[in-house]
Order: sequence, then structure tokens, then C-alpha cells
Amino acid sequence: MCGIFGIVTSNEQPLGNILLDASRRLAYRGYDSIGCATIDKEGQIDLRKDVGKIDEVNKRLRFDTMKGQRGIVQLRWATFGSPSQVNAQPHLDSKASLVGAHNGNIVNNVSLREEFIAEGMIVRGTNDGESCVHAVERYINQGHTMIEAIRKAARDLEGDYAFVIALRNEQNASGDCPLYAIKNGSGLVVGIADQATCVSSDLPSILPVTDRILRLQDGEMVALWPDRVEIRLVSTGELVHRTPERFTKGMEVAQKGGYVHFMEKEIHEQPYTVAELTHWLAASPHVDPFVKALSDAQHLYFVGCGTSYHACVVGAAYFNQLATIPAIAVLAPQFTETLVHTLKPTDAVVFVSQSGETKDVLNAVNATRLAGAQILGILNVLGSTLMHASNHYLPLACGYEISVPATKTFLNEAILFLYLADKLRRHGSRIDWGTVPDLIAETLTATDSAARHTANLLNPHDEMYYLGYGVTLGIAMEGALKLKEITYAHCEGMLSSEFKHGPLSAVHGDYPVLFVAAPQDAAMMVNHINEVACRGGRSIVIAAPSKLLRDNADEYLPLPDTRQELIALLAVLPLQLISYYMSTSRGINPDFPRNLSKTITVD
Ligand code: G6P
Repeated sequence: MCGIFGIVTSNEQPLGNILLDASRRLAYRGYDSIGCATIDKEGQIDLRKDVGKIDEVNKRLRFDTMKGQRGIVQLRWATFGSPSQVNAQPHLDSKASLVGAHNGNIVNNVSLREEFIAEGMIVRGTNDGESCVHAVERYINQGHTMIEAIRKAARDLEGDYAFVIALRNEQNASGDCPLYAIKNGSGLVVGIADQATCVSSDLPSILPVTDRILRLQDGEMVALWPDRVEIRLVSTGELVHRTPERFTKGMEVAQKGGYVHFMEKEIHEQPYTVAELTHWLAASPHVDPFVKALSDAQHLYFVGCGTSYHACVVGAAYFNQLATIPAIAVLAPQFTETLVHTLKPTDAVVFVSQSGETKDVLNAVNATRLAGAQILGILNVLGSTLMHASNHYLPLACGYEISVPATKTFLNEAILFLYLADKLRRHGSRIDWGTVPDLIAETLTATDSAARHTANLLNPHDEMYYLGYGVTLGIAMEGALKLKEITYAHCEGMLSSEFKHGPLSAVHGDYPVLFVAAPQDAAMMVNHINEVACRGGRSIVIAAPSKLLRDNADEYLPLPDTRQELIALLAVLPLQLISYYMSTSRGINPDFPRNLSKTITVD
């Protein structure tokens, strides 16, 4: 996900290293290109940007030598427009008077670009950050001040975003020049230092400059001068008075966004990362060719390892149930050993990998290439080996996931499969994707204390089962993997109807068995719950409100009531929380569990 940082100083000075330092602190968000712009005393803009890693691009473009009174740096993680020099940010307006950069998604980017071109503006790329700059240019051309032009531009821009922008020859009587920023859905923090102010997507890049900060709210804009900042409501232009706070908790706390662990932060980022993904999917030209390849395939396989394999299991259930397209989920090494020998050029294989570098997955990709079948990638890390090997790929749009246990990438993998199945569905109404991020936020809030309670119940045990059925099978397997990874307890995730064929012998006094039930499977699962209950086991049920399930369970963790396809996905949220709470109460650091690695590049 993109990151922006801007700074205003009273004197012209070297800004390159400040911008570079800020970019390194924003890098954890994930990026594929970097750009810096500085504006000197005479109003000259120096803009340098390209695709690549910070240090490698700096070697070529020498950001470190840049000087000025105002500076902007942006790290871009491609959503609208391919990763390229022209799409890298910051962007100029038609006459190179304005320079700006954004973070987030402008969902009406395509139609805005058409309007700007029709109005005679010079549109250089396809990135939505450029649309923010032209949206302001439109009103500057009509004679408005910067503040008015930004307020009017905000009415034209749809989506969740933040942006920073400057007009090159704007100066007050004391020779000071301002920078402006606006927040509408994406993060933005202001820093106030001596003779300088700055603004950034998040706190870690501000702290080396100052610990005096102001947090902007959605619907606010700020004018940054070297000696002061002015916050306004975008809607009315009215000034907002807010007292700066001192952030004294240190860099590590800032990087974790106030959470104790990255895992906790990443769990709570999910409403935002789901919104990023679904906005991107709604507007991206990459989706239709991917969908066509899926529907043209004679045989369709979903392949991955670990958490990504569990998303494949969920995805195959959605494809089979909603789109009535047979899809088979297979673990990557097993695919390489077995099904790959049956592949034909008319078949397609969807490879799912957060990192895009898992060796077991890449072995299967190579074997698929040799068989001549279509390679479709779903991945989080842009520029990864899987991305380059794919005939078509879709990104997960999660930004970096730092914690070893995957959380936000699993949810977006499963959401992506549901989105594709929803597009191809043969029955039922389409999902209103705009409501899904709020549903995820609501579930996290509503299930938090029940998840703590469940973690306390499970904590005395070192072995247990998580059972799912139909679409919740992959969710139960993923919940069990999370628990294994970060609590070191043994937890088996499996099909609830299989439990009676052997594992049931493990059940004795108080043995915990957790069930994840979707509404359509409640009647069937009641049998499975009672098989456990009548042998003295303790049944814990995660499900949408259901009297039938509640009456038969020892413990009941209710999910919000919504469409049944979505309920299965929501269930993974309390499962993530249960693992997190149990891990921390065992004194384990969930971000770095023993023996495990985020990306495994060996066989
Ligand atoms: C490792 C990680 C798991 C992950 C798996 C697949 O084993 O510890 O958390 O699910 O690799 O990773 P991928 O990057 O291919 O999704």
C-alpha cells in the first residue's frame, strides 16, 4: 500500500536525506516504485522517480542530493496503472505548476482521466494519484485559491485516499511557501518541529523529525507552513482548532500502530485491506482476462501451501457451490507429484501465494509451464517470481504482512476467490461489496471478548480439533493452523463429518472440539456436535445466530447475521483472535514463532 511524506521548511536546505529516511520508514507498507519532488526558493520543481527499491533507485537518481524548501516522497504500490516510471508518484499537472502524490484508491479514476483529457489537460499516465493533481488543476485554472481548489477537487474524487500537493510559486510576504494535504479514508499524521512541519501516511516517518504530532480526521485538510499548520473542514472550509500531542512511546510502538504485536495490528487492518482489494477489483482491467481464463479452463485447480492452501480450499467450495464450476484445491507438492501429469494446455491452475516465492509452489508452477497449461497467480508481493511466471495475476493489495502467521493475506485470498465466484455465480444475487469492510470491522469488535473467553477455555489444553463442513472446512483448517503456529498446541482442522471415522476416540472429559458452522450446514453439524457432547467433550460453536446450534453447544460464539457466503469468511476473524490471545497468554511472541519462517524458499 502506498505511503506519502511531505515536509516544509523556512529555508532552502538539503531535503534528500530526510525524504529518503522517511521512505525507508514507510517501506514496510510495501511498494514497487519511489519518487521524490522538491521545490526550491525560486519555485523550481525537481522531480525524480522510478520503479525499483529505494536504495537501488537512489543510486541512479541521487535523491540524496535534492534540495529545497518543500519536499514530497511517495512509495507506490501499484493498484491503478502498471508499475512504471510514468505511473510512479509524485505527479505534475499539465503545466508543471502543481506537484502532488497520493495514497489510497480513486475509484472513479478512469472516468476522471477521460474528463481531464477532454478538458485539454495533459494526462501522462494511468495512475489515480495523477487524477488527484489534475482534479486540483481544474479549479486552479478557474482562478480558485489552493484551499478552494482542493476542497472542490475533493468533491470530484471518489474513494478512500489521502494526498499531499504544492503549487510551485505560492509564497507569503515572509517568503514562506505552503504544502497542503487532505485526508479521506487513508491515514494522515501531521508533525510540528522548529522551523519545519511535515505530514505522513503514518507516524514512524514523522518521529525522526519531531514528536509533536496532530492526527487529522477524515474530511479534513491541512495547510502546512514552516511555523504553523492550519486544519480545515473540507466541507465548509471552517478552521479546526486542535492541540498537538507529544508522542513519547518510541519508534517500535509507532511502527506497530499502537498495537502490541504486528499480528494484532494486521488483524485489525483487515477492514481496510479488504476495502483496498475490493475497490481495486471493481475498477481493474486485469479482472476480466483472469475470469475468462477461469471460465475457459477445461479443468481448474487451486494450488498453494500452508495458509494459502486453506484459501484454495475455501475458494474451491465457493466455485463449486456458487459458480457451479468444478475446482479442485491441492497442496502444491502433491500437485507436482500427481495431478500435473494429467494436465492439458486447455487446463488452468490458480497458484496462491502471499510471498510469490514459496519453493513448493514454484516447483508446481514450473511443472505446469512444461505441461503448457494456463498459470494464474494470486499473490501479495508484486514483482515476485510467481507474478512474472503467471499468464494473468491478481494482487492481494494487503501491503507488507510482517507477522509470520498470515492473517490479512488469508482473508484477502478468500475474499478474492469469493469475488471471482460471485462474478461467475449461476444463482442468487450478487454481493454488495461496499458493505463488506464494515461487516469485518463489526465482527472484530463484536467477537473480541468472546474470543478472549474462548482462548482462556482452550489454554489449559494442548490438543484439540477444529471442525468445519462445506465452505467452513478451509476456515476451520486455517484457524487450526493459526493455533498450531503461535501457541505450540496441537490443533487438527478437519471435516466435521469425518470426525466420527477415528478422531472421535480422542474425546474424553472436557476435551475441546470447536465447530465452525455456516447457516446451511447447521442441521448436519448438530449431529456432529452431539457426537462430541455425549462423550463428555466440550463443544464450542462459532456461527451466525441459530437457536438450533445454540441449544446444542456448550459454548457459543455468535457472528453477525448476514449472507451465508460471507458468514463463513467472518468466522476466521474470531479464530485469528483466539490464537492471538492464547499465544500471548502463553508468553509467546506471535510475530516470530519458533522454527517457522514467513517465506520458505527451500524444498
Ligand atoms: C510458510 C509460512 C506460512 C505460509 C506458507 C505459504 O510456511 O510460515 O504462514 O502460509 O509459507 O506461504 P505463501 O507465501 O506461499 O503464501
